[in-house]
Amino acid sequence: MLLYLDCDPGIDDALALGYLIAHPDVDLALVGSVSGNTDAATAAVNARGLLRLFGRPDIPVATGAHDFLSRPFHGGAPHVHGDNGIGGVALDTTGTTTARGSAAEELVALARSNPGQVRILAIGPLTNLALALDLEPTLPSLVHDVVVMGGAALAPGNITPAAEANIFGDPEAAARVLDAAWDLTMVPLDATMHQRFEAADLEALLASDRRPAQVLGELLAQYFDFYSGPFGRPSAALHDPLAAGILTGEAIATRAFQVRTVVDTTDGPGRGQTIADLRGSYHPDPKAYSGEARWVLAVDEPFAPTLLERLLSLD
Ligand code: BDR
Ligand code: CA
Repeated sequence: MLLYLDCDPGIDDALALGYLIAHPDVDLALVGSVSGNTDAATAAVNARGLLRLFGRPDIPVATGAHDFLSRPFHGGAPHVHGDNGIGGVALDTTGTTTARGSAAEELVALARSNPGQVRILAIGPLTNLALALDLEPTLPSLVHDVVVMGGAALAPGNITPAAEANIFGDPEAAARVLDAAWDLTMVPLDATMHQRFEAADLEALLASDRRPAQVLGELLAQYFDFYSGPFGRPSAALHDPLAAGILTGEAIATRAFQVRTVVDTTDGPGRGQTIADLRGSYHPDPKAYSGEARWVLAVDEPFAPTLLERLLSLD
């Protein structure tokens, strides 16, 4: 599959990127950065460093939007992802590849040159995708499909009681993406909060004699610290990796609904909330609605073993 990855690395973004590089069916054509866990410029440096670490410095990285559609960048999440977005670990970017255009421009160019082929995985705020829709309104018919890590259907939020971090980052962009007429899969907190790396997974990465796994283990230490609070023990929620697993088909949805969604773009306490219309029985003809997405609420089995195996295979 030909893939565009939009990301804000981000420790779980780093795991997702490693997983995608390790997967033999994935042809990662382009990576775009966006402000989220850190600013877009730092996220691009992190993505290039990670690609070099994973042996793919040839994959181009395009820097994306610094500010959100209607608000300035909020400063990131250093308490979750460290000061530089990847746990304070400095990666070598020597010999890596920077794309000339912005992430939105490069995505549009990639889609135009490969009509119907490109799959999009977005694991940060949706600013670049919204900007790409502005540049090319027919983008939904030019790409194959879109998978987004973001939102919460029935689960509580993780950045406010109502909102998930990626959607809360840029609700206006999320509303545009959810309204567009593409084949869209949402992988929300309902599914991702139940997929975790535990202490044994971290130890397996750190014990590897391969550098990619060792470095990912070092990054994860910060993430484990953060999740000791919400989970009551050192562990890590696999948000972005699970979305990557849904994309490849190695994680299988057992509970999913194709429904219309509204994003709260007000300034009240619900800002960034995703209101997915799960009242299937009230709407016998859900296809009457436009702007639908498939919401993955649960997956068949733990994704951590598959993820760990792929990360340990990186050379
Ligand atoms: C999402 O927010 C970010 O902190 C993570 O990288 C993930 O994409 C989870 O809500
Ligand atoms: Ca992310």
